[in-house]
Amino acid sequence: MGFVVNKLSNTVAEVVGLDGSKPMAPEDIARLKATFLSHPIMCLRDQKLTPAQQGAFARQWGPLEGQDRSAFCHPEDKDILILSNDRRPDGSQVGIVDAGDFWHSDSSHLAEPCRITTLHAVRNPARGGDTYFLDMRAVYDALPEHLKKRVAGRDAIHHVAKTLNPRVAVSTERAGAVEYYKQREKETKPVTQPIVRTHPETGRQALYISPRFTIAIDGMDDAEAQPLLDELFRFMFSNPAWQYTHKWRDGDLVMWDNACLNHMAGGGYEYPDVRWMHRATVVGDRPYYRAA
Ligand code: OGA
Ligand code: MN
Repeated sequence: MGFVVNKLSNTVAEVVGLDGSKPMAPEDIARLKATFLSHPIMCLRDQKLTPAQQGAFARQWGPLEGQDRSAFCHPEDKDILILSNDRRPDGSQVGIVDAGDFWHSDSSHLAEPCRITTLHAVRNPARGGDTYFLDMRAVYDALPEHLKKRVAGRDAIHHVAKTLNPRVAVSTERAGAVEYYKQREKETKPVTQPIVRTHPETGRQALYISPRFTIAIDGMDDAEAQPLLDELFRFMFSNPAWQYTHKWRDGDLVMWDNACLNHMAGGGYEYPDVRWMHRATVVGDRPYYRAA
């Protein structure tokens, strides 16, 4: 298929002229996969995919992650999750309203986090609704040597419960959210993840922590660990050149590699200004660290 790949920066590639609703030829998949290894944020323009078509597109990259928030799965394809602030006539939410509202890498609170997220803009709000990305390879590369030494080979503790994490707040937009996270505190075991994650395909190192999910460091007292995490988080956000803001166009399908990025929903829109996204995530392996 005659599509064009425009490399917009060191992290972002734009794909124009590809119809994601059709199965891709092996050579086209190979071309996109090669691009994705160097450019972990890839935006396919001008897509108009039904949930079933987005699911089929995403499955060309691997099996999809099951979703536990079944109330917000799309009836047409249960692996598609609806993110939206839209409401039904009875006032109930049609999708997740507070998805991604703090910096994170998707499902790092699971032992085997998803590798790829695909997000499709079904409806963009009149204002706001941007998605921010942070290149954690660049962050790692620039990390001062003494910090690299302190974190290499160490594990951090990740947890899904916002109520265990003083660095984040529970959204007031979402009914029952505090009770939901209190329940998750009781039912969900924390997982450990390497603070430096080695990319399973390129071998490149990236910092693999986030304000949203990382709450402690394994085997280190909080008196030492919390200031270290604060220092790492401060460093992550110290250079705007490591960040990219995606301003959604109608029909964008953005896919990103969670092994080497943080991202966050920018918000800034208010009902009845509606944002509606469809999301599917491709499974991944257990993250690991290998010394370079
Ligand atoms: C996600 C996410 C951000 C956004 O889908 O994982 O964080 O802008 N989304 O919707
Ligand atoms: Mn996310």
